[in-house]
Amino acid sequence: MKHLLIMVLACSGVMASVPGICDDNPPISEATQECLGCHETFHPGIVADWEKSRHAMITPENAMKAAMPARKVSSAVIPDNLKSVVVGCAECHTQHPEAHSDTFSHNGFKVHVVVTPEDCAVCHSQEREQYADNIMAHAWKNLMGNTLYQSLKQSIIGSPVQKNGRVAFAPPDSSMDATTCLYCHGTRLTVTGFEKRDTDAGELEFPVIEGWPNQGVGRINPDGSLGACTSCHSRHSFSMETARKPYTCKECHSGPDVPAYKVYEVSKHGNIAASQQAGWNFAAVPWKIGKDFTAPTCAVCHISLLTGADGAVVAQRTHRMNDRLSDRIFGLIYAHRQPKSPDTTIIRNKDGLQLPTDFDGGSAVSALIDDQEFQKRRETMQSICRSCHSTSWVKGHWARYDHMITATNTATRAATDIMREIWKRGYAPAPDKNLRIFDRAIEKKWSHIWLFDANNARFAAAMAGGGDYGVFAEGFYPLSEHLQEMNDWLEHKGK
Ligand code: HEC
Ligand code: HEC
Ligand code: HEC
Ligand code: HEC
Ligand code: HEC
Ligand code: HEC
Ligand code: HEC
Ligand code: HEC
Repeated sequence: MKHLLIMVLACSGVMASVPGICDDNPPISEATQECLGCHETFHPGIVADWEKSRHAMITPENAMKAAMPARKVSSAVIPDNLKSVVVGCAECHTQHPEAHSDTFSHNGFKVHVVVTPEDCAVCHSQEREQYADNIMAHAWKNLMGNTLYQSLKQSIIGSPVQKNGRVAFAPPDSSMDATTCLYCHGTRLTVTGFEKRDTDAGELEFPVIEGWPNQGVGRINPDGSLGACTSCHSRHSFSMETARKPYTCKECHSGPDVPAYKVYEVSKHGNIAASQQAGWNFAAVPWKIGKDFTAPTCAVCHISLLTGADGAVVAQRTHRMNDRLSDRIFGLIYAHRQPKSPDTTIIRNKDGLQLPTDFDGGSAVSALIDDQEFQKRRETMQSICRSCHSTSWVKGHWARYDHMITATNTATRAATDIMREIWKRGYAPAPDKNLRIFDRAIEKKWSHIWLFDANNARFAAAMAGGGDYGVFAEGFYPLSEHLQEMNDWLEHKGK
């Protein structure tokens, strides 16, 4: 059998150095052998990725023999039919057929296309549970279920129409949503029917899924679950190495509103990672600081299970990333403490808006974490820094970062005060129940200040990528310029 041979070779190569075991002749279920029989002809790319993956090399039963914390299968019990065969096409694509509205009859099998967190959870229950509490899993509703954010969305991607002699923006359609905002936030997948198609294997029937393809972090799946594990674990390699490298996060965290990757890339950490990573071990579990790598990637600070060279745990792995986050530095419209719930649509500020802060600068305190939780999360993040830095270095860094949060919030307050004066004097329509507060040029200037300029300065301070993104490229230079322009605009209107 061709694919068996390939697997034995893969197992004796690079992957053999991975902690854990490679089975000599990994048993493949009969169902999966049938899938492979056709799909290695039709989709050689898919089959090759799978063959090189850990899923093709070891059965769950043998993987579970690894001692914690090196064990990669977190579920305590695995169903008998899945235990003693490798995780092949059928093991993922035919699970829970009744729960999937995208299930279709396929060569004698009940197959579904979209493999969801609920399917992965059979073997990876802990990751699935934690991810459900991650704000990312809720990204669709957090955007689509918030009136103010819908208004922001419409003012950016809405279709321009002439109305009373002015350009106005009509609500965007679902195709536009899917290629823009929901590319990252995730779409809602809906099965609208089934269609027959001629294929190289004869006429076959397939589901028609609106909103697909998509791998957004908060995608709503055909079984009702939230998220796409593939947003970081690209199919069909599901590789640890890929997830741990910063390019995985770059896909969604690079914009001028969310510049994490950009500041990381120009930081000392990013510089060292770029120049040294060829010699690092990105596959080792647990990941040993100093031995396997010497500077952090995104995963190190936000997700990974980390130990010292002696094996003592520095931080537990988390797919609920706010375990390590105390502040929310993404301005909505001010930086604020992390919300208690990953569903941010339940938050109301004192004016009844679905926002964690007030235009006055206060915050929706009861919806945000308390002092004790705040300190606990900071301590977790700082303990990671202290594996490579002295306490004084870490304290000095954090003091400046806190100061930057205050400084940028102060600047946002100044801009918001001008904006409110403009609304008050009627130079732009005041916020009504539809909250159309983003569609005049002066309003865009105001949102530019808190959404781009202030965010860049804060992200640069948080992740030690100071330089350009805090000052000239983005950050304080444009911030001060935009504030002056708002000021002058109001002054001229008044004359
Ligand atoms: C007799 C050959 C054959 C067998 C056996 C087979 N498939 Fe397929 N499969 C196909 C063909 C042909 C397509 C369509 C390819 C295309 O249009 O790009 C397809 C498409 C798919 C798709 C994509 C559906 C879509 O809507 O795009 C999935 C998922 C899939 N197969 C999974 C499986 C699984 C899992 C098995 C085993 C349980 C399996 N297949 C067995 C031939 C086969
Ligand atoms: C560990 C689980 C897992 C295994 C094993 C697996 N798949 Fe998938 N497969 C997925 C996920 C996840 C997706 C992405 C679907 C999505 O989220 O949109 C996917 C997508 C697909 C698609 C559609 C992708 C596209 O680009 O059109 C096909 C076809 C497919 N798989 C076939 C296979 C075949 C054939 C095998 C066996 C060689 C296989 N899968 C093994 C999880 C799996
Ligand atoms: C039937 C059980 C099972 C299912 C279902 C399953 N996995 Fe796995 N997973 C495993 C096993 C077994 C390994 C290999 C463990 C080892 O190497 O010790 C693994 C390893 C992994 C790894 C680590 C890979 C590496 O390079 O070290 C990731 C990431 C992963 N799975 C993600 C997923 C995702 C995402 C899904 C759903 C799309 C999924 N798995 C579905 C059993 C499963
Ligand atoms: C390139 C990926 C990407 C695209 C495209 C994108 N976003 Fe986001 N969005 C993010 C990320 C990343 C965050 C989280 C930032 C953080 O917490 O630092 C986010 C967070 C948000 C939030 C905060 C939601 C909450 O309550 O937690 C809003 C609102 C938002 N985005 C609006 C939009 C709108 C409107 C669009 C389209 C016009 C859009 N986004 C397009 C990546 C994206
Ligand atoms: C497919 C797009 C996508 C990818 C890939 C992605 N993210 Fe995100 N991320 C988002 C979106 C969207 C949000 C915000 C959701 C919201 O606010 O509702 C987010 C939120 C976050 C947050 C939480 C912010 C908070 O305040 O709770 C962190 C931290 C984060 N991402 C880190 C990462 C890291 C690290 C990686 C890479 C390993 C990564 N992300 C990969 C889209 C993505
Ligand atoms: C935002 C990015 C991101 C998303 C989304 C994500 N993961 Fe992960 N995952 C990672 C990173 C980074 C690692 C490496 C952690 C480490 O170094 O300890 C990882 C590691 C893993 C591992 C290996 C665990 C081990 O013991 O070696 C599994 C299994 C896994 N993820 C499953 C999942 C499942 C299932 C989902 C969906 C419910 C998911 N992941 C969603 C980023 C992500
Ligand atoms: C040296 C550790 C470190 C590295 C490396 C790192 N971060 Fe961060 N990140 C932080 C700290 C510290 C904060 C601020 C945390 C706080 O105040 O609670 C932060 C904040 C964030 C936030 C903001 C969440 C919010 O509230 O809006 C996102 C998103 C994020 N990081 C993503 C990334 C991504 C993506 C990468 C890689 C490109 C990365 N980080 C690299 C330490 C790091
Ligand atoms: C795995 C080791 C490691 C971890 C973890 C780590 N750093 Fe670093 N960091 C380094 C190294 C190495 C340098 C480069 C020092 C030099 O160039 O002299 C560095 C540089 C820095 C710099 C200097 C930037 C400059 O150019 O002046 C700051 C600030 C910093 N780290 C903060 C942090 C913070 C805050 C954390 C935790 C959130 C952290 N680091 C976590 C290894 C680490």
